[in-house]
Amino acid sequence: MKSTWNQFEQDNIETVSSDPWRLTYHLMPPVGWLNDPNGLCEHKGTTHIFYQYSPLDANGAKKGWGHYTTTDWKTFSQCPIELVPDQEIDRDGVYSGSAFEKDGTVHFFYTGNIKFEGEHDYIYEGRGHYVNTFTLLEDGTVSERKNVLRNEDYPDDLSCHVRDPKVFEEDGVYYMVLGARTKEDVGQILVYRSDDLEAWTYHGRIQSGSAFGYMWECPDLFELDGQKILMTCPQGVEQQGLKYENIYQNGYFLLDGKMKEGTEIAAPFAEFDHGFDFYAPQTYRDEKGRRILIGWMGLPDTDYANPTVERGWQHALTLPRELTFSNGKVFQFPIKEVLDLSCDERKIELQAGHVFEAEGPCFHATLFPEGPFSIGLRQDAELNYDGKVLSFALKDSGYGRDVRHIEVEDVHSIDVFSDTSSVEIFVNGGEHALTSRIYDAMTSNRIVSDTDMDMTIRAMGSYCIERGGEKE
Ligand code: FRU
Repeated sequence: MKSTWNQFEQDNIETVSSDPWRLTYHLMPPVGWLNDPNGLCEHKGTTHIFYQYSPLDANGAKKGWGHYTTTDWKTFSQCPIELVPDQEIDRDGVYSGSAFEKDGTVHFFYTGNIKFEGEHDYIYEGRGHYVNTFTLLEDGTVSERKNVLRNEDYPDDLSCHVRDPKVFEEDGVYYMVLGARTKEDVGQILVYRSDDLEAWTYHGRIQSGSAFGYMWECPDLFELDGQKILMTCPQGVEQQGLKYENIYQNGYFLLDGKMKEGTEIAAPFAEFDHGFDFYAPQTYRDEKGRRILIGWMGLPDTDYANPTVERGWQHALTLPRELTFSNGKVFQFPIKEVLDLSCDERKIELQAGHVFEAEGPCFHATLFPEGPFSIGLRQDAELNYDGKVLSFALKDSGYGRDVRHIEVEDVHSIDVFSDTSSVEIFVNGGEHALTSRIYDAMTSNRIVSDTDMDMTIRAMGSYCIERGGEKE
């Protein structure tokens, strides 16, 4: 299977890399389908970015892990595919997982997806969701995969949906959080503990006072400036006014104190990125001590489309974002290395109604509005602010994406990171974010506002991808 996947990648890479919508400073699948970022870590100066990967089918089929590495966030090596679902413990999918470094060894924990033979619903019965582990070897490849938890190790009231392990240490104890769905369809987090990263015992769970969705995917628990944060992606949450507009949510809860056996979350859920295309984020602490997050620039089961499927690929990863905590909120902004990709900075006084044409679709613009505004971006994107609600709307370029909203008291800066077929928008230096794919002809790269405002604009340079030693 491994050689088939690698061969298919080689045979089809040309088609995908000649697509005008291929992203220039975002990581995307070499061919086929990509979803969640996995196993993020920096080890001895090299950052490893794995991701859910299904190269043979741009609509997604069985998942393995793809792998990029970088030492400077400008040049990336595309590593050969190693983790394919070819073991008894992950035969229907090497699902999402994470990295944890201890004493110079990087340990990975992931979900092995197994579909048992026969007629099953695969939610309440018929599916194995195992926690498996392996380590990173000196030559950049990985060790043999081993199983550490099986369905029978989960509490009796759990469905078969228990996945996406993330490990951290607190007071000398290792903890693992797992996203879970109970048999009663309540989303929550299971917590396991270990003294040696090998034997794991049930510790407790983290849940909300009243049910908040039926399944919580991709949990991540970390501290940011002394505040404990639980990020997760709840499924099954109904839209409430301008909240929870996507099919599945992404966001975080603030937690108090040390890891306890049971935690009922008191704090409300804060949405993290309000765009059409953001899901399954994962964070890690880099060797400089920064908490960096990468998300999947995509979402499953949407009623809007990605026309790149016809061109042999679908989805991408977001820019790496540094997280900080201020005034009770998580702020996010692309890391300095991304900002360093820009050049030709120009400061412009954008006059009401005057259409500014950017040189191309790949730019970083910072706009400084004062009061309500209506801004036009590229072919048909619109950013409107009425003093209370910021809305982002797409027409033809959205392929079914219509409008998303953020409630915000004051908008004093907007950073737009535009790539060939994506935009990431950060409001007030990262207080709010909105990520979307955008599919236009890239012939109109306009920025126009109905009020005068200052703007700084820079062209964005491209990432360089090395494949099998060759630079692109
Ligand atoms: C989130 C998710 C994870 C799972 C993976 C499978 O997008 O559903 O819960 O591990 O994708 O690809």
